[in-house]
Amino acid sequence: MPFPAQRLRRLRATESLRSLVRETQVHPGQFILPIFVCPGEGIRREIGSMPGNYQMSIDETVKECEEVKALGIGGVILFGLPEAKDEMASGAYDEAGIVQRAIRAIRKEAPGLLIVTDVCNCEYTSHGHCGFVKDGDVDNDTTLQWLAKTALSHARAGADIVAPSDMMDGRVWAIRQALDSNGYERTPILAYAAKFASVFYGPFREAAESTPQFGDRRSYQMDPANGREAMREIELDLQEGADMIMVKPAMPYLDLIYQARQRFDVPIAAYQVSGEFSMIMAAVRNGWLDHDRAMMESLTSITRAGAGIILTYFAKPAARLLG
Ligand code: PBG
Repeated sequence: MPFPAQRLRRLRATESLRSLVRETQVHPGQFILPIFVCPGEGIRREIGSMPGNYQMSIDETVKECEEVKALGIGGVILFGLPEAKDEMASGAYDEAGIVQRAIRAIRKEAPGLLIVTDVCNCEYTSHGHCGFVKDGDVDNDTTLQWLAKTALSHARAGADIVAPSDMMDGRVWAIRQALDSNGYERTPILAYAAKFASVFYGPFREAAESTPQFGDRRSYQMDPANGREAMREIELDLQEGADMIMVKPAMPYLDLIYQARQRFDVPIAAYQVSGEFSMIMAAVRNGWLDHDRAMMESLTSITRAGAGIILTYFAKPAARLLG
């Protein structure tokens, strides 16, 4: 007999009851904070569309990392703004590049903090595409060589995890080969496996100065309409040697996080991207949403869907709130 024997409101009556039966817990150790590293010294430039997030020079990045570590946040993911960009994305795989130097500095000043690196070319090419452009499109197999060199240079500098976000076919395989043949067989790969050609990357491109100068990324990033293809992308990345996979963006793709959780027994990350963050912050600034509740509800939903790891620009305020 459902009613009146069963009354689901009984277990919602007080915070202690709700806390006892809460199914999903969010904790700071599962967050990864994206950081944008720029040249110079003493620089901390706020990104207009992403309040509370900055382009930071290496010295400021180090301070940020000390704070991140003290808050118990799981780690950081580094994006670089190079001194100069060119057709060959030279800054991406330069042993003395911006990210490589940042890794070394963080390793030294904030030891023990987990460092993930984004392996991509779009911040380093003059045209803003994620690889070598030939006949107006990104050439897959040439780009693989750049990605392999970049990942290796990150591992050499001391990265804990490399995370390719370019969406070339075969990049996980190419990176795994390069790492293994140079003695980095213990460096894990977190593949941005199901990464969609999303409008929600807009604010990031302002932050990373990586907007494509012509065309768009739809010949390599996924069509937002395709869920089955997302599962194929994940499956192939795992076959090529990915240790962990990611779904990106997060909130508009919770169905795919959930499907991936059912199908693949590997750690799953979700990237709550810049536009997801900016939308919430814009509503907060207008007085339309409560900051803390919107932040926590979004992070809880992503966790409930099945992501154990969340890349999020809310990492610091959420960690502070969780105490
Ligand atoms: C690099 C990369 C992008 C993001 C992460 N890595 C931008 C893009 O693909 O255009 C987006 C992250 C965000 O929006 O927060 N390719």
